Amino acid sequence: MTFIILKSEFRNPNYIYISHILKQKVPTMEMTFAMIKPNAVKSGLIGRIIDRYIAAGLSVCAVKMHQMTSADARGFYAEHVEKPFFPELEAYMTKGPSVMLALGGENAIAKVRAINGATNPAKAEPGTLRYDFAPSMTENVVHSSDSPESAKRELDFWFKEDERYAYEMPSLKACCVL
Ligand code: CMP
Repeated sequence: MTFIILKSEFRNPNYIYISHILKQKVPTMEMTFAMIKPNAVKSGLIGRIIDRYIAAGLSVCAVKMHQMTSADARGFYAEHVEKPFFPELEAYMTKGPSVMLALGGENAIAKVRAINGATNPAKAEPGTLRYDFAPSMTENVVHSSDSPESAKRELDFWFKEDERYAYEMPSLKACCVL
């Protein structure tokens, strides 16, 4: 069965499904990349972090656990390689496994960044992941793409196209299912 998805009101992550209007699915979904960093993995936070994304209406489209090599860190963080903080970042990112995620949903890029909070945990808003869990700028618990261009680059870096599964989660509060 195929559906048309009508955008629901802003802040409401639910969708209205109208199955009989069009035979084609209208793509309203955005996919972004997020990463649960080594200190969060070691602290047993994988489930709690993924729960927050799902609670915001985002679907997990791909997941992979991987310990970065130096080559991975230099490729993934290419724009930061020359920056003074890079050696510390590289040492941290290669010291244990991270969890790579593709997350899908309406406004996924902005939603994940809002859930994560400011890069510097000292500036993160209460209720964000970095406010709640991050001890420092380097060990800031999570990463996410900051634009559609970086989302494409970062998703391509970690996942092949056929490893990503785009779908909308049926919501318990769905407005209307015909
Ligand atoms: P992330 O969102 O993964 O993007 C780059 C990472 O570099 C950032 O989170 C921090 O973990 C780390 N970092 C360390 N120092 C800085 C800095 N001064 N500015 C930006 N990022 C930094």
